[in-house]
Amino acid sequence: MDVPVRSSRPTPGQLALAERLARGDAALGAGIKTLPARLYLDEDRFAQEQERLFGRLPLLLGPSAMLPQPNQAIAHDDYGVPLIVSRDGEGRAHVLANVCRHRGTRLIESGDVVPANRIVCPYHAWAYRSDGALAGVPRAECFPGLEKSDFGLREFAAFESGGLIWFRRSLEGNFVAVEQLVDDMDAFGLAALHLYRRNTHDVAANWKLVIDAFLESYHVARLHAATIGPFFADGITAADTIGLHQRAVVGRADYLANIDRSDWGELRRAVTYTYHLFPNTVVVVSPDYINLLICYPQSAGRTLVEDIMLIPEAPTSADAERHWQKSWDLLDAGTFGGEDFRAAALCHQGLASGLVPEITIGSLEHGIAEFHAKVDAALA
Ligand code: FES
Ligand SMILES: [Fe+2]
Repeated sequence: MDVPVRSSRPTPGQLALAERLARGDAALGAGIKTLPARLYLDEDRFAQEQERLFGRLPLLLGPSAMLPQPNQAIAHDDYGVPLIVSRDGEGRAHVLANVCRHRGTRLIESGDVVPANRIVCPYHAWAYRSDGALAGVPRAECFPGLEKSDFGLREFAAFESGGLIWFRRSLEGNFVAVEQLVDDMDAFGLAALHLYRRNTHDVAANWKLVIDAFLESYHVARLHAATIGPFFADGITAADTIGLHQRAVVGRADYLANIDRSDWGELRRAVTYTYHLFPNTVVVVSPDYINLLICYPQSAGRTLVEDIMLIPEAPTSADAERHWQKSWDLLDAGTFGGEDFRAAALCHQGLASGLVPEITIGSLEHGIAEFHAKVDAALA
């Protein structure tokens, strides 16, 4: 099925990268590098990452498409903080504590999108608006002098642009690091996409092992031989950086040389753009859909990975539904669940034995070394 990709044009940066690939300027790192296995195993390091990376940097909560209408909300717990992501009556995104200001009860219980004109506490029915303001207190005379305006839900800093919703745990800081991504995401028309499916994988691996799997193309022809491997030329890749983030293309250089590279449809059929949004998210741009993979570290050896598939519009026929379902199954259960995440878990198992104290990184894998250098810099 040929689905039009709703977007403008590639950005100059996206085009330049495709042109490098077409010219055959492979992004080969220089020589072999090693990394200590304890980067993935050490609980103290894990605690430092939580404090200095996840505690300070903007973190992705999901695509704008997870809240398609004003006055909707969804609970979000995977960063270890009970959150509500909401959209107010004007459509503005808010990130609120999912904790009642009366006696601390959890407000939204499930992980489904709920209407949020009123968020009503299940205990004594204090009611909040979708922007977190306290709107109603039953038997208000029992709280003499209580100023409702002082009892709104605790709110975190939020940022929505380029079709993505971010928050920060800390009061200090800004969203400059993710503002740099907006042009690229807008070029894919991310804000207008429809959320087709989401699924959370419980992966027995350090979160950085999951990210590593998307920072090298060395494995694509081998690990993915039974799924997507045949769609790609072996090791044909080019990469660059946008601030802390990495942008890569993999694909078929011979085909790429002969197409109109300013035509998004042709370009996206020829190459796959992959982004690593530092620190914990991967964006995979297929010809007519996009997957977001958000890693939520739970411990040094366990990561929840949410796979979210975005498509141009809600399926309107059985044919369209079958088309998207096939792509979803190929990537979510096959390529990601059955291959990339499985490889990460097997890697964690092997390293946890202590029998290989350092890992070896070849010239097609230098994106991994760059990622770990940025983590080191942030922890220093
Ligand atoms: S705890 Fe929420 S209304 Fe009492
Ligand atoms: Fe992979």
